[in-house]
Amino acid sequence: MHRAQKFVGISLGVVVLAQLVRPNLQNPSVVAEPHWDRPQTRDLVRRACFDCHSNETIVPWYGQVAPFRWLIAHHVSEARENLNFSDPSSNFEVKQMVREIRSGGMPTWDYRLAHARARLTKSQQDSLVAGLLATFAPQVAKEDVSPSGETSIKDLGEDKHDPQGRKDAD
Ligand code: HEC
Repeated sequence: MHRAQKFVGISLGVVVLAQLVRPNLQNPSVVAEPHWDRPQTRDLVRRACFDCHSNETIVPWYGQVAPFRWLIAHHVSEARENLNFSDPSSNFEVKQMVREIRSGGMPTWDYRLAHARARLTKSQQDSLVAGLLATFAPQVAKEDVSPSGETSIKDLGEDKHDPQGRKDAD
């Protein structure tokens, strides 16, 4: 066998074997959703956030194929741990949601690349932020969020992205 043939053969073998590792992508059942202020808010959150931050994940066709399936399973389980719109016991930190939307951190860039409906215009972002602020009004009062998502709160330094932590790593 030629070296090239051997290489192709082994590569195909690896790709085929990789398919045997299939992490679960089944949706847990929805416990309850927040009391949305308007249907439009739910619609925007569904378009931009639900595939990762809810129990109603729609798995794309390439989610059947390794290694995409592994990446999606990993993303979704991490995302749900942080924030799950299908579970009232989730930690709804509006301050962080607004900051992620405004900074372009969420939805993630790779998700936006693959899903045109998740690429929100500026006015859709405004509407989403206003809707989240209204939906989670009691938390907002506690968190002291400004609609601009600017560093409005003194305790920003205390969250997970503490600049202190980065300094220590240097
Ligand atoms: C493609 C999957 C995906 C989508 C879509 C997505 N997220 Fe996330 N999100 C994640 C993952 C993964 C994490 C956890 C890792 C991290 O912080 O980057 C996360 C974390 C978060 C956090 C916690 C951030 C922190 O610093 O702790 C917030 C808040 C958040 N997302 C809000 C949103 C909102 C709001 C939307 C919709 C506008 C959204 N996400 C859409 C994957 C996603």
